[in-house]
Amino acid sequence: MFKLIEFNYHGKTVFFRADLNSPVKNGKIISDARFRAVLPTVRYLLEHNAKVVVGTHQSKPYEEDYLTTEQHAEILSSLLGIEVKYVEDVFGKCAREAIASLKPGEILMLENLRFAAEETKQAPLEKCENTYFVRKLNPLIDYVVTDAFAAAHRSQPSLVGFARLKPMIPGFLMERELKALNKAYESEEKPKIYVLGGAKVEDSLRVAENVLRNGKADLILTGGLVSQIFTLAKGFDLGDANISFLEKRGLIKLIDWAEKILNEFYPYVRTPVDFAVEYKGERVEVDLLSDKKWIFDERPIMDIGSRTIEKYREILQEAAIIVANGPMGVFEIEEFAKGTVEVFKAIGESEAFSVVGGGHSIASIYKYNIKGISHISTGGGAMLAFFAGEKLPLVEALKISYEKFKDIGK
Ligand code: 3PG
Repeated sequence: MFKLIEFNYHGKTVFFRADLNSPVKNGKIISDARFRAVLPTVRYLLEHNAKVVVGTHQSKPYEEDYLTTEQHAEILSSLLGIEVKYVEDVFGKCAREAIASLKPGEILMLENLRFAAEETKQAPLEKCENTYFVRKLNPLIDYVVTDAFAAAHRSQPSLVGFARLKPMIPGFLMERELKALNKAYESEEKPKIYVLGGAKVEDSLRVAENVLRNGKADLILTGGLVSQIFTLAKGFDLGDANISFLEKRGLIKLIDWAEKILNEFYPYVRTPVDFAVEYKGERVEVDLLSDKKWIFDERPIMDIGSRTIEKYREILQEAAIIVANGPMGVFEIEEFAKGTVEVFKAIGESEAFSVVGGGHSIASIYKYNIKGISHISTGGGAMLAFFAGEKLPLVEALKISYEKFKDIGK
């Protein structure tokens, strides 16, 4: 792969693909974590007099957090301390004119890339290369720089389409992400503990299967919906409220798969011994084996309980390598952030080399000022795909571009 510092950007137009897709509440972006993560690359490009064209997606069509990138431009602008222009267009005439009129050291934010139909679908690189998006912008740009690690599992035009047309260069964030994730995955140190939470159950099962089968994990601690599926697969009842919630989300069918993993690796997959629910306006913790278990028929599980947190903390203290993805519960609600925050804190306090990710859930690391985590990944699904042993289309595109352009003058 190329290195960012190998090129001369003076007066060159750089398409900078970032992933600034961020959590939103009442129409407002509530975390700038992904913006801060790309600042070193953006600053480097601006300091070296590039004309920087930023592209990002925000959510997907019909979702509540599917927004224009006007706010993204404002946030980036206030973090950089310079104007970030915004154009309400992706690759049409307005966008192209705005790009062409940029001066060295100036920066422009394109509209939400997923406002363009081509960007909402995945297709092989050859097809992405032939999209209107790529064909219209290609004549205007000299280099592509990418820090969109969080979208690295997607094969979409803005991510992979330029690979054979322009030198595609990883930014500082991309480089850091790949270095840290490879270190955690390839390390020979033991014990290696994986903490899998959140709602991406299928992706997490893929990770569990891959890391256990290939000797990359010694133990898996579960939380979130991942733990509910494994708990059910172990034969425990989680009550009507939870079963019907999992059914609605189409997750019940994954119990068989979880059972297969347990048949092979039972002692290496830990599930919570207690869970927290909301009862009469309060956090109530219920032991999985207690006679208060009826509560699960009425109240959905919102978090792991304190006994589980304690057990997980003890295990994490002894770890050499920790990989964690996704929250332990509904961390957006204060009373139910406890599991997520305490587990992330325990990871920070351990001496292990630790990588923590999970898309929007990493916002809680900043909110609760949790220190000591070796690498906070900006990736959610991308991080899971990596640890599931899958090839990431964006990483493959960077390699293809390097092979194609490595001999050109920089
Ligand atoms: C993410 O938050 O995981 C990335 O921005 C990718 O988003 P996507 O899952 O909508 O492609």
